[in-house]
Amino acid sequence: MSANDIILDIQDLYKDYQLPRKNIFGKPSYVHAVQGITIQLERGLIYGLVGESGCGKTTLAKMIAGVEMPTRGGIRFDAEHLIKCDTTGRQRENSRRVQLILQDAYAALPPKRTVEQILNEPLEIHGLGNAAERRKKIEATLETVQLPLSVLSRYHHELSAGVTQKINITRALLLDVELILADESISSLDPISRIEIMNLFLKLNAQHNLTIVFIAHDISTVQFLCDKVIVMYLGVCVEYADNPEIFVNSMHPYTQALMNAVPTLEKGLTGEPLYVLEGEVPSPTEMLPGCNFYSRCTHPARDEQCRTRKPALAEKRSGHLVNCFKV
Ligand SMILES: Nc1ncnc2c1ncn2[C@@H]1O[C@H](COP(=O)(O)OP(=O)(O)OP(=O)(O)O)[C@@H](O)[C@H]1O
Ligand code: SF4
Ligand SMILES: [Mg+2]
Repeated sequence: MSANDIILDIQDLYKDYQLPRKNIFGKPSYVHAVQGITIQLERGLIYGLVGESGCGKTTLAKMIAGVEMPTRGGIRFDAEHLIKCDTTGRQRENSRRVQLILQDAYAALPPKRTVEQILNEPLEIHGLGNAAERRKKIEATLETVQLPLSVLSRYHHELSAGVTQKINITRALLLDVELILADESISSLDPISRIEIMNLFLKLNAQHNLTIVFIAHDISTVQFLCDKVIVMYLGVCVEYADNPEIFVNSMHPYTQALMNAVPTLEKGLTGEPLYVLEGEVPSPTEMLPGCNFYSRCTHPARDEQCRTRKPALAEKRSGHLVNCFKV
């Protein structure tokens, strides 16, 4: 990977959320939502970011988008543009080049505005073009996402969730976005809208070299869309590899458990029961001394080293990184 190919360079990133104190004399406690992620993303690829609820996917995406400040660590966007990790406030250059698209399509848009007003607003804020140029850009972008011009006079609450999500994507594209973080952005849509949005992401990636991080609970959702997959567990990245390598040769016991839990036609025909991952997920308020997956790991070689020391994400095959002592 040459330096020019790297759009995002994340170094040893942490995020702790302080919880309200139980009483004024009590010690503060923290949720350790992201616990030391180091990862690089290449420009122009589609990434799947998967893991169970609460593993830190949204927190990671929010830090990349500058919505949350990291507790420590660094994020470099496009090599030079540092997302500064200071405590004085958000200071991110070129904020329009990274856009976060959330699951709730309607919540992201301001109410009581027409779609035209909604699409015009960010262009005005960033001082992009005069009124005629902005209108031309909006029309061209609506064509890209295959929406008719008639949506411009509508209010977003009059539109379906699928169309509203396309408006969110249009808004990001108008700002010449280079990296889209799509956080469960299709999970509340009907099946046809889901396929439409997935196809739109594929088209934008192919035609505009857009880098996309597609966040989902379910590893099977990302299989048909993504070039590379990042698997998270309890605030850490446990496996990172190309598609299909990660599906064919998954190595981390957690990724293997996720794969075994995916329903397939073969399992349906043979009546093979779906694997259910057992054991309690440790509380994210505890910083464990050893591997975060220790309490649920069924690897036959799991031992004292796993309980007391933290594994690091390391390359086990070419381009295939795993966070485990035993593989
Ligand atoms: N503002 C906050 N204050 C305190 N804890 C938070 C806050 N936001 C997230 N958390 C906690 O941080 C951890 C990671 O949450 P996050 O929303 O990033 O997970 P997620 O992987 O996106 O989950 P989901 O799949 O359910 O969306 C969770 O334990 C969550 O409860
Ligand atoms: S390091 Fe040990 S506990 Fe953690 S996943 Fe690997 S085998 Fe399991
Ligand atoms: Mg989330």
